[in-house]
Amino acid sequence: MFSVPAIPTDRLPELLRRMPKAELHMHIEGSLEPELIFALGQRNHISLPYASVEDLRQAYAFTNLQSFLDIYYAGASVLIHEQDFYDMAWAYLRKAAAENVLRTEMFFDPQTHTARGVSMETVIKGLHRACVDAQAQLGVSAALILCFLRHLSEEEAFETLEQALPFRDYFIGVGLDSSELGHPPEKFAKVFERCRNLGLHLVAHAGEEGPPAYVWSALDVLKVERIDHGVQSSKDPALMQRLAKDRIALTVCPLSNQKLCVFPNLGDHNLGALLDAGLMATVNSDDPAYFGGYMNANFVQTFAATGLNAAHAYALARNSFEASFIDAAAKRAFADRVDAVFESVASGV
Ligand code: ADE
Ligand code: ZN
Repeated sequence: MFSVPAIPTDRLPELLRRMPKAELHMHIEGSLEPELIFALGQRNHISLPYASVEDLRQAYAFTNLQSFLDIYYAGASVLIHEQDFYDMAWAYLRKAAAENVLRTEMFFDPQTHTARGVSMETVIKGLHRACVDAQAQLGVSAALILCFLRHLSEEEAFETLEQALPFRDYFIGVGLDSSELGHPPEKFAKVFERCRNLGLHLVAHAGEEGPPAYVWSALDVLKVERIDHGVQSSKDPALMQRLAKDRIALTVCPLSNQKLCVFPNLGDHNLGALLDAGLMATVNSDDPAYFGGYMNANFVQTFAATGLNAAHAYALARNSFEASFIDAAAKRAFADRVDAVFESVASGV
């Protein structure tokens, strides 16, 4: 059993940056930086309702999830060709590699694109090619999770699944995202059952803005393996016990929660409380181009604001690989790499 070495507080930022980590909750369309949105808009002759990169950035003042989603879907309208999807994913994967993200399971929202006449094949092939190149050129293990948009119908989710099945080998699972309130998980019970029978991994956003009841139904009706966000779970002690007992991972996104006013003050975030209650919490960037930071910014700013320590950092790094959809041997190998970095930072190397 590895015992976490003592690491002084002033060396925490270095530790957080250097430690190997997995990212389990990021929307690839949320990695589109304003500069790339404008470059792709020009390349594809799509005009944007913003005069400049700065003008677009100025619009990133969100009051809740929906106020963000409206701008996020508008930004994704510049993606037309397979190369656009590749370029977007490649830009993210290079940043991930630079931040010691060794494994990433990236969400994508095909309905945002197929609704505009972009084919499923264009979307998936561009993203998949970037995943293949990430392993070969960056040493990053990358996989895709197809998300259904929950503000649309279950019938439309079924149609999306059918369109994606010719590319079944290019994605490892399905998720559920977009506007949470008023669209409970059980709305998608049948399509998730079908995905489970297909052997796909299952995750769902629940308890971001929505109540603990949505987390319960994501677990008991959809039978998901991880909960995306899940921070509202702390309002329900019985749910906290269930999550701890079944070792259900929560893919927490602190800067997202701050920017969407779930925890307007980062210092009030409940990440430490979730970890201290024995839950398998992880840290993730959600939509890094919109929320002011990629993985390491999420770690460094959250630790500084909430006073988390090296033992929390160790739990988060180990949880991220444990909760990922890789095989047991790969999990062990990544865990060994986490231990080695903690040893070396502790010994001043
Ligand atoms: N799509 C992109 N980011 C999202 C979030 N934080 N919640 C729900 N849907 C999303
Ligand atoms: Zn999300």
